[in-house]
Amino acid sequence: DQVSNEMLDLDELRAQRASVFHRQLSREPYDLDEAWDFARSNAERCGMAATLARAKSTGDTVAIPRAGVAHWDAQLELMRTLSAAGAGVVPITVDSLTRSLKFEDAAKALAQSTPDRSVLNGYPLLAHGVERTRELISSVDRPVIVRANAIDLRLVAETAFASGATGFVSGPMYATLEYSKLGSLEVSIPNWQYIFRLMGEYAAHGVPIVEDAIGFAQSGTCSVPSLMHVGVVLDALIMAGQGVKHIVPYQMLQGHVAQDVAGCLAVGTLTDEYLAKLGFGDVRTYVASSDWNGAFPSRQPDAYGLLAANVLACAIARTPVNYVKTIEEGIGVPTAAANAASIRFTRYLTHLISRQAASLISPEVQFELELNLMEARAILDAVLDMGDGDPVRGSISALAVGVLDIPFSPNVHVRGNVLPVRDADGAVRFLDRGALPLPAAALRIEAERLASRRARSGSGELSYQDVIDDLSFLEFEEPTLPEG
Ligand code: 5AD
Repeated sequence: DQVSNEMLDLDELRAQRASVFHRQLSREPYDLDEAWDFARSNAERCGMAATLARAKSTGDTVAIPRAGVAHWDAQLELMRTLSAAGAGVVPITVDSLTRSLKFEDAAKALAQSTPDRSVLNGYPLLAHGVERTRELISSVDRPVIVRANAIDLRLVAETAFASGATGFVSGPMYATLEYSKLGSLEVSIPNWQYIFRLMGEYAAHGVPIVEDAIGFAQSGTCSVPSLMHVGVVLDALIMAGQGVKHIVPYQMLQGHVAQDVAGCLAVGTLTDEYLAKLGFGDVRTYVASSDWNGAFPSRQPDAYGLLAANVLACAIARTPVNYVKTIEEGIGVPTAAANAASIRFTRYLTHLISRQAASLISPEVQFELELNLMEARAILDAVLDMGDGDPVRGSISALAVGVLDIPFSPNVHVRGNVLPVRDADGAVRFLDRGALPLPAAALRIEAERLASRRARSGSGELSYQDVIDDLSFLEFEEPTLPEG
């Protein structure tokens, strides 16, 4: 059977559930009727879709942190602290051992963890199990999103939904092309379709679950926004194909306010446009801006500055969601206090700026928005054409020939011929577009916008060294003053 965007047959989902639970956990699948009963009343008490819908209609922005520790008591304390600091949805970030299906190793590390010392970089969801995690989720007065990312999160998703999580993260584009060296879309798309089909079944039984569409090129380094939008839309189309009804198009912010605002606006427009085009007009979307995913300054005041630049863009774009990093991102997994301070800071600045939003949409934002839309549509239309309208087939074919391509991907199936570089103002442009099918008008604009940086460089040309120099764009050292 060729992989496609067709909806997975229900009997096929049942068969796959039985085999995955048997293979990875040596047990029968969770009883879905029982899970739906718990999850339905939990979602009615505190569901993420309702929270995001409210924010979207009132123009508010829900701040959501990332956070996970091994010990149950500490996780509860962490979630309560973040909720008190202003998090509108609270996270359970899952540890890496669980994400890579090493459930027994995760259980051993949990046994060595105490409330004060986490041996894991997140919450070992499978080791705690459904009953304990239901207790955890029932003990907080905010909706809960389970956060993880890997090619095979089928049991993590099963356990999250049965435990009452009403939000989940990632999809095949992001998990495969940004987080896996050897994985292929042919293998990871069916794994994710299982999860999305399961979400669709929860939704059909009264449990709306929200899913983040992150796409690709939004991890670790800067990238051109239009290319990020393409991945988000493809992940969203694959989600919708299996019956997911609540999608969060994701926009990583990169420190150039006008381009970041435009990115948030464009990704929402494009996701809605292509969902409608492919017949998924009933899907609801809630754009999320996310703090810069690359290297953070390790000095806390600098990190506050970067968070502020991100909040500014998010508040001007009035995105319903803001995924917030912390002032300790440059150091490691944050303490609860640093995480809470970062949330409070974000809430404060959002409150201050968001009411000024309309007056801050500048002509430069409009310019970037139109460029993003033109470029992303050209790539998306070419990808869909290659699959005769099917986004799954199109993605697989397009990736093979570089019509889909990503800078700095760790994945061996990606051509990797695209290079992003910042212009003199810090907006990200294509230095090399590889084989991406960009319209001539867009290429002209991209080149024009690089002219001032080109002029500044000694040789008058930009090179790979400029791309490398951009890695430290978000760091700042005072110029040394001459003695005397
Ligand atoms: N606690 C808090 N933040 C975390 N992240 C990952 N694991 C944790 C955790 N246990 C955040 C980091 C990382 C991003 C992908 O998620 O900010 O950069």
